[in-house]
Amino acid sequence: MTAPLTIADLKALARRRVPKMFFDYADSGSWTEGTYRANEDDFAAIKLRQRVLVDMTDRSLKSEMIGQPVSMPVALAPTGLTGMQHADGEMLAAKAAEEFGVPFTLSTMSICSIEDIASVTSKPFWFQLYVMRDRAFIENLIDRAKRAGCAALVVTADLQILGQRHKDLRNGLSAPPKFTPKHIWQMATRPQWCLGMARTKRHGFGNIVGHAKNVSDLSSLSSWTAEQFDPRLSWKDVEWIKERWNGKLIIKGILDEEDARAAADTGADAIIVSNHGGRQLDGAPSSISMLPKIVEAVGDRIEVHLDSGIRSGQDVLKAVALGAKGTYIGRPFLYGLGAMGKEGVELALNIIRKEMDVTMALCGKRDITTVDRSIIAHCPY
Ligand SMILES: Cc1cc2nc3c(=O)[nH]c(=O)nc-3n(C[C@H](O)[C@H](O)[C@H](O)COP(=O)(O)O)c2cc1C
Repeated sequence: MTAPLTIADLKALARRRVPKMFFDYADSGSWTEGTYRANEDDFAAIKLRQRVLVDMTDRSLKSEMIGQPVSMPVALAPTGLTGMQHADGEMLAAKAAEEFGVPFTLSTMSICSIEDIASVTSKPFWFQLYVMRDRAFIENLIDRAKRAGCAALVVTADLQILGQRHKDLRNGLSAPPKFTPKHIWQMATRPQWCLGMARTKRHGFGNIVGHAKNVSDLSSLSSWTAEQFDPRLSWKDVEWIKERWNGKLIIKGILDEEDARAAADTGADAIIVSNHGGRQLDGAPSSISMLPKIVEAVGDRIEVHLDSGIRSGQDVLKAVALGAKGTYIGRPFLYGLGAMGKEGVELALNIIRKEMDVTMALCGKRDITTVDRSIIAHCPY
């Protein structure tokens, strides 16, 4: 295989290098995976306006997300179990993002801990919060993120209960992995991955084990989530979280105009239009198809970001054209990580940057901050 040129190439390589249960964990949506597919398909349905004979010199993708300068408006999304795609995965991805000049968001359900990331980075990263029933643990988690100097707290609102992903159940997904003949076989056929895992001590949920009470066995993610995540979470809770955090706050998982208005009312700094990469409510619309309505409803009151389905720099550009001030990639960086470690995350970011830059130029624009709906030839939404 030649060097990966696209995110799809990185995905193919990751499939060969990551044990099946963890590759599948990334490459899955809930139930029929209809929303997971729609996220990508609906980007493809948007057509760009080709412009010619305009000055294309001195192009810039530099922008800002929640007032923070970014080399392009693309952050790494919070993803659980990233340290199972590649040993020390979160630390590698955070370093790659820092060097590239884009935000890295650490998931509550990461393998490397908040403190691990702080130890290998020199600029502030962002932290994503899942709210559990054990409020003392959550307060402590918020305080740990503060101590680590995190620059934003991303509160995920769309996972109070877990959407069912059939592949994870069929694969018997767990972290650390179980040692049944099936799992041993999946790992043994990925020797490079095993070598990496043998060299690190980080195999469990680094933010949780040793910090939350009565938590020793997190191995079954689905049963643990059902037990620990707070299904009563409400807009009221956002208030105390905001107060305790007392910093930049982003609410993730908004897919509806009414919820977007409620999010803007909280005084948060940004919302992420997201359906969790098609992993929660199967049958929900794609993120990109909901973006224009949500921007219309709250765009003048709160910064609007988007994730779910971005697979290229063109997709980022389309989201920006429809009003997103920033975007996030989940799977694209996970595939890069699984395929080639830190270098793969860098490659994923570079692929996206290049695609965005060339596309922007061919649409007749030189500065990402001037990109708007005028670059769209056809959009069904
Ligand atoms: C493997 C995987 C794990 C994820 N874990 C989390 C998580 O722990 N917290 C969270 O807020 N979102 C999580 N997400 C959702 C992502 O933050 C993001 O919304 C989604 O990946 C965007 O879609 P994309 O993968 O198509 O880019 C996860 C997504 C994937 C693919």
